[in-house]
Amino acid sequence: MKADIGVIGLAVMGQNLILNMNDNGFKVVAYNRTVSKVDEFLNGPAKGTNIVGATSLQDLVDQLERPRKVMLMVRAGGVVDQFIDNLVPLLEEGDIIIDGGNTNYPDTNRRYAELREKGIRYVGAGVSGGEEGARFGPSIMPGGDPEAWPHVKPIFQAISAKTEQGEACCDWVGKEGAGHFVKMVHNGIEYGDMQLISEAYHFMKEGLGMSHDEMQQIFAEWNKTELDSYLIEITADILGYKDEDGAPLVEKILDTAGQKGTGKWTGINALEHGIPLTLITDSVFARCLSSLKDQRVEAEKLFNNPISSIDGDKAQWVDALRQALLASKIISYAQGFMLIREASEENGWDLNYGNVALMWRGGCIIRSAFLGNIRDAFEANPELAFLGLDPYFKEILENCLPAWRQVVAKSFESGLPMPCMSSALTFLNGYTTARLPANMLQAQRDYFGAHTYERTDKPRGEFFHTNWTGKGGDISSTTYDV
Ligand code: 6PG
Repeated sequence: MKADIGVIGLAVMGQNLILNMNDNGFKVVAYNRTVSKVDEFLNGPAKGTNIVGATSLQDLVDQLERPRKVMLMVRAGGVVDQFIDNLVPLLEEGDIIIDGGNTNYPDTNRRYAELREKGIRYVGAGVSGGEEGARFGPSIMPGGDPEAWPHVKPIFQAISAKTEQGEACCDWVGKEGAGHFVKMVHNGIEYGDMQLISEAYHFMKEGLGMSHDEMQQIFAEWNKTELDSYLIEITADILGYKDEDGAPLVEKILDTAGQKGTGKWTGINALEHGIPLTLITDSVFARCLSSLKDQRVEAEKLFNNPISSIDGDKAQWVDALRQALLASKIISYAQGFMLIREASEENGWDLNYGNVALMWRGGCIIRSAFLGNIRDAFEANPELAFLGLDPYFKEILENCLPAWRQVVAKSFESGLPMPCMSSALTFLNGYTTARLPANMLQAQRDYFGAHTYERTDKPRGEFFHTNWTGKGGDISSTTYDV
């Protein structure tokens, strides 16, 4: 019997996906560039399963049922191109290559177009959920050649996480690099959620002087509210984790955040699309700032800007903080979906936003109860431009607003850095303000550069230039917009 799928790359994600496929009744051929790893896998975790190994790419291809499905679980970048180059001569028209790595979606667009010309169907699939997700049910976001979907659907939907209603957290996202695009935004949102949680922890620890046991309990409590999510749950665990000497391990971890680039790509993309994705972008910058450890240590010594403790009823502050966190999180997702909508429209991807939320509902790092509500919001109104105007989320935002303002104001007052909760609030203040001071900006642009402006008393699209000083001419500069 030929195999259903071949998987290349036996690092932990690859191995776990293969084991997951095997558990679900699919026959998998495993291959790795360092071939000795194949034997180690077959004699180790894959022992006693139906998983088989390949000694070369040709051997892998020969063992596959047609159309052949080959999934790459290798490091994103040039390695993917190398494997594609080596695989294509061995494959036939209609065969399928899937990239399950964290690839930057323009690369997937390019590979999709190149392989389409060669008759190979290409799929770029975002896979989220870390090692455990890969093993027992990840969220999978496949995009690329729609003709490939019926062939990979049974495998992907079987191995993916399921919602409580039994729906697979995997569906077809859209053509070209749409799957990897959605995974990129997922990671951006992941960065935002992690930073928001870190800000709440900082407020509790440095502002309110709470102990780790108290904080652990609070996060565990929050996990029973609308904040119910994987990241809140692991934060409670982390706060409760003691090092060998009994002290909380988290305090021994150096405060410099790493990043592999997906959050940065999301921010760059937002700038390119002109979408105010402020929270995620600020969360990337927060990681950048954290990495300037030596400079920060020096600056703290030289600059008189201490964090002062926060007085008042602790329980009240903690509840205000919960509301600030929830409201900020809504803004982050709202911004993320604004970016997804813009990219969908620009690329003609025709994305289904409710389905995106469903794919993130389970299995992935940002999985949460909240995504069920986001799905409902987009199902009720697929044209929803801003999630915060959906009745459910609008009510939460309005209810949380006073506490959220208090928390942000207090953090500024006490010298606590709070980039994301404050940027979310600033965004909402701007988004719900009909008249912003951009009239002044336009006047300045016209004053120094004859860039023209539109008038409130004239129809949109008519542009005016004023000779502000009497010295400039009446000639305006060309009008073009980014
Ligand atoms: C996932 C994660 C994963 C990501 C890590 C590390 O969805 O399972 O998003 O794909 O690579 O979270 O990301 P950073 O190193 O950039 O924090």
